[in-house]
Amino acid sequence: MRTRITDLFGIEHPILQGGMHYVGFASLAAAVSEAGGLGFITGLTQRTPELLAKEIVKARELTDKPIGVNLTFLPTFSAPPYPEYIQAIAENGVSIVETAGRSPEEYMPLFKQAGIKVIHKCTSVRHALKAERIGCDAVSVDGFECGGHPGEDDIPNMILLPLAAEALTVPFVASGGIGDGRGLVAALALGAEGVNMGTRFVATKDAPVHENVKQALVDATELDTRLVMRPLRNTERVLNNAGVEKIRQIEQEKGASIKIDDIFEQVAGVYPKVMVEGQVEAGAWSCGLVVGLIHDVPTVKELVDRIMSEADEIISKRLSRSMSGALEAA
Ligand SMILES: Cc1cc2nc3c(=O)[nH]c(=O)nc-3n(C[C@H](O)[C@H](O)[C@H](O)COP(=O)(O)O)c2cc1C
Repeated sequence: MRTRITDLFGIEHPILQGGMHYVGFASLAAAVSEAGGLGFITGLTQRTPELLAKEIVKARELTDKPIGVNLTFLPTFSAPPYPEYIQAIAENGVSIVETAGRSPEEYMPLFKQAGIKVIHKCTSVRHALKAERIGCDAVSVDGFECGGHPGEDDIPNMILLPLAAEALTVPFVASGGIGDGRGLVAALALGAEGVNMGTRFVATKDAPVHENVKQALVDATELDTRLVMRPLRNTERVLNNAGVEKIRQIEQEKGASIKIDDIFEQVAGVYPKVMVEGQVEAGAWSCGLVVGLIHDVPTVKELVDRIMSEADEIISKRLSRSMSGALEAA
């Protein structure tokens, strides 16, 4: 399958693995790239630019296919040294960065000087247009279904993607709610030129996370995610658990006067507990509605191959049969 996204990034399949805190290590990113998609190492999971450089080197030993780094600009308790992270990315030969959280405008000159292609992940058409205006090469349009931060507009991809297609000139991928070939074909039909997946890649054999996390995803249904931190305008879609119930209770009690400190225990430092130690009830960790469609734990290669063959089956058999007027399976 060839699209402007596969051409832009020099990849075989239009399937990206978005940055994921404590999941997007070299091993997962390399597995996705080796399978023909595009894997992203999560920059800030590496506590320093030097550690990120080492992680990139590790990934390079696992694959010589294109690989990217995610840089997330989020309201953190102390701002990371972004220019140094960008330097580590550039010096170690990575030429694709996924930005997220807020506009990468401030850092665009650094990216461009280093010849880095930027795909900015955002949750609204106005932010996507801004990304295009400031020189991003592509956009990842993250709908309300997504795991992580869906923004505050609550527009699902069935509406958001066609609106993005009407407005944008640069190519974009659909992000949020995609886990199989049906999702890929739907995204393409709505105007995207590829997909970005998070949650689905966590439930793979190659994801370097505790087995409890993968099992929790297989066990969960589409009814098991919750939105937290909405009163702080930092909404996150997470898998429901005891820690998340606690956050929701505090949010209800404090109302509009809530501060991040009130839920510090349930949101700060949770990822290592969940992903490394397998304490899946420890607090808030991102998970998308697509969890309802996750029933197994394949390898990344099995997953990517399955998505592409399902997409092929849908486009060249089911849909084209329908278009030619045949209702019955041939
Ligand atoms: C466990 C987990 C951690 C994530 N961490 C980050 C992150 O650090 N930075 C980021 O930009 N996106 C993060 N995301 C969002 C993903 O990159 C991706 O945009 C999102 O998962 C897409 O929605 P989906 O889960 O429905 O596929 C995370 C998602 C998950 C599931």
